[in-house]
Amino acid sequence: GLMREWKGIDVLELELKHRLGIKKVIIVPGDSDEQQMVKRELGKACAMRMKKLFTGKDIIAVTGGSTMAAVAEWLSPVSDENELLFVPARGGFGEDVQNQANTICANMAKNTQTKNRVFYVPDQVSKEIYHSLIKVPDIHENLQLIRSANMVLHGIGDAIKMAERRRTTPDILAKLKEGRAVGEAFGYYFNEEGEIVHKVSTIGLQLEDLAHIPNVIAVAGGSTKAKAIKAYMKQAPSQTILITDEGAARLL
Ligand code: F6P
Repeated sequence: GLMREWKGIDVLELELKHRLGIKKVIIVPGDSDEQQMVKRELGKACAMRMKKLFTGKDIIAVTGGSTMAAVAEWLSPVSDENELLFVPARGGFGEDVQNQANTICANMAKNTQTKNRVFYVPDQVSKEIYHSLIKVPDIHENLQLIRSANMVLHGIGDAIKMAERRRTTPDILAKLKEGRAVGEAFGYYFNEEGEIVHKVSTIGLQLEDLAHIPNVIAVAGGSTKAKAIKAYMKQAPSQTILITDEGAARLL
């Protein structure tokens, strides 16, 4: 019955948290690869967790992707004392508009009736352009905000799928295949050992910045993402909360 299934999930959550060496694992029933509804449930679970973690004055850095877009759908107005500011974690990335961090942050701010920042910077800029860009007041301010964020929300994806979705150049694609990249998060591509195979050089949050951020919530589900999640979790900071589904969790 339902009770037994839920108990199964409880045990799995604890086991996974220990195995992955992170703070918490939350598993929603089902497999988001098979049912669109399950991705919505991932979003709901994340929105509920966020509400528990809000301190009253929060800066939340957010990445892109369809899972993050699902999180935005479930956020609702916070009380007037709460000051939230949503800021894209990194610039660039070539996602479709509805899955861009800028759009997602705007929706999160709209649904919570709080604020957001926009962050438009291209990927793969030269050193000179990079150094001029980080002096642009808006960009400089965003970088300060990202570094002082107390919460990060991010997706995790299959490496090759993400590279293709971003229309990555053939030479980089070859590098990823040669390096056996399986997972991607924040523009970093990882192999099964959790080693970085390639990194998209864009402005914003860097993997090492995560260490200083108290609340890090990774949201990713679907059995096809199991390998990717496992790879990234080898790099994930210990304060990470993973919100996933049964489809991925059973394989992990
Ligand atoms: O491109 C942003 C991003 O968060 C990636 O880092 C991640 O791999 C991907 O989106 C996840 O996308 P989705 O939730 O659509 O699977």
